[in-house]
Amino acid sequence: MMIDPDMLSDPIDRAADILSKARSVVALTGAGISVESGIPPFRGKGGLWEKMDPMEVAHIDAFMQDPERVWNLLIKDMKTVLDKARPNPAHTGLVELERLGKLATVITQNVDGLHQLAGSGDVIEFHGNFAWQRCMECGRLRRTAEVDLTRIPPQCDCGGILRPDCVFFGEMIPTEAMVRSQQVSAGCDVMLVIGTSATVQPAASMPFIARDNGARVIEINPEPSPLTGRISNLPLLGDAGRIIPQLVEAVKERLDSP
Ligand code: OAD
Repeated sequence: MMIDPDMLSDPIDRAADILSKARSVVALTGAGISVESGIPPFRGKGGLWEKMDPMEVAHIDAFMQDPERVWNLLIKDMKTVLDKARPNPAHTGLVELERLGKLATVITQNVDGLHQLAGSGDVIEFHGNFAWQRCMECGRLRRTAEVDLTRIPPQCDCGGILRPDCVFFGEMIPTEAMVRSQQVSAGCDVMLVIGTSATVQPAASMPFIARDNGARVIEINPEPSPLTGRISNLPLLGDAGRIIPQLVEAVKERLDSP
């Protein structure tokens, strides 16, 4: 007898049932997936934007006006926090879903590189990657780890100022990341939305694209987001590091004994 997913009462069971039958799964992740790796989120409890105004430290105009200030207020601390961060069970759980054939692509708003470090094979970095700094004069990239921070703002050999190879507010999303994200969102039949407040555009429009093209949207977040009940019809309330491993186990059980 076929089980109607909606008849299964436990949301993890329902999500696992949907995933085990899915043809193409895409995940959209945000800062929340890295909270258990020791990286604070931007919004909500303990969020970075509670302590500072993003328009003053994360807008391109603020950086252009006073790069030294933005390096001192934000970028140096980000480096310290990201240097120590390692993937948590949510990141490794997504790698396992990929191995099971139940996750094709991760679209991440994070710049911490933890999905790749965990082993995810296809990661679209929507907001760039903090592992690299780019010279504002000659465009040369260098590894953040190798940048000399004794002088702030750090400079390139050509004398130009270095900036993180990330998207500041007020900047365009890298074209390839934007185009591919729209494509994979439109082409999936299940989208997992994990640890994002879904408030920053255009990343927050990906679940809408998925849903408009017939996908089911499953959300993993300790609290409801603006998508909950509108776009995501299956919220799994809780920390990603706890929920994702449970979900992976439930999917495995179904794939082992269909
Ligand atoms: P936010 O900080 O806005 O949202 C983090 C979300 O993660 C919230 O909805 C939390 O409830 C949730 N959360 C917290 N702990 C969690 C956990 N253990 N497991 C799962 N979820 C958890 O982060 P983003 O939505 O990623 O952009 O923010 C989007 C963009 O705003 C960022 O990429 C950044 C920021 O300003 C730029 O800098 C351009």
